[in-house]
Amino acid sequence: MRLAILGAGDVGRSVADLAGEYGHEVVALADSERAAIDPDGIDVQDVLERKAGGEAIGTDDPARAFETEYDVLIEATPTTLGDAEPGFTHVKRALEADRHVVLANKGPVAERYDELRTLEDDSAGSIRFEATVGGAIPVLSTIEDCTPQAVTAVRGVLNGTANFILTRMAAEGLDYEHVLAEAQDLGVAEADPTFDVDGTDAALKFVILANVLSEGGFSLSDATVEGIQSIPGSALELAAEDGRTIRLIGEASREGVRVGPRLVPENGALAVTGTRNIVQLETKHAGSLHNSGRGAGGPETATAVLSDVGRLPEL
Ligand code: HSE
Repeated sequence: MRLAILGAGDVGRSVADLAGEYGHEVVALADSERAAIDPDGIDVQDVLERKAGGEAIGTDDPARAFETEYDVLIEATPTTLGDAEPGFTHVKRALEADRHVVLANKGPVAERYDELRTLEDDSAGSIRFEATVGGAIPVLSTIEDCTPQAVTAVRGVLNGTANFILTRMAAEGLDYEHVLAEAQDLGVAEADPTFDVDGTDAALKFVILANVLSEGGFSLSDATVEGIQSIPGSALELAAEDGRTIRLIGEASREGVRVGPRLVPENGALAVTGTRNIVQLETKHAGSLHNSGRGAGGPETATAVLSDVGRLPEL
């Protein structure tokens, strides 16, 4: 497939870097930040330079990506809330041109799912969005394999930054502010980690899951969300005395979405450590299924994007 990649952050650059390994060709890598498409990571630059004589475009004008001959638009621009722009318009434009779209950007799928499906119905192209939930972990394709009707709920940990902070607070008896600073120094937490620690990022992922289970109808405003910012170190100490710990747990079902700090057994499946994510599917006839792994990172998320590309039909 010929890939036009919008967004040259960690995910977009990793997709460009790994696409050849999966048998795909990068025809454009576009980002509104010139610096992002001229990264230190030599591999992506190489992809573009090898193409310099011909088709591939490295551009700081996302609109130029649409001028290329592409089969799949990879929407990897930053997640935005509310109207989910400019990501939503990018997806619309590609579907209206009868192209496929693979999203790593959570905004359009969480905030405007029903509109996306309507656009898809009128297009020869399809949308897929495995990378929006749980990074490398095959969550949506597992639900697809089970068939969504057979899954009653999804529960788990879908934010690595918050999980890292809670893990360190529990292990070292440290306070939130201290561990947050450490996570930022280590590059685990972004310079602005607001959406990670206030539960918004996890909530977006569980809203996407609720939309998949219900065939739409949910957006972030439907979710009940609480973050981890006000958990004192002493709460984790108290929990440990009882063989428990605290994790930022989300739950999506056809009834709604909830995300918040919850007590879980210290040795239980939900008490994943560090930046790991875990997803538990509750099924109608087969109990619960668990899947755990790396929920973020460039190559990890690119793996999910490229597996989606591999599942698309020829146009
Ligand atoms: N920042 C997120 C996390 C990954 O820490 O899990 C992107 O959604």
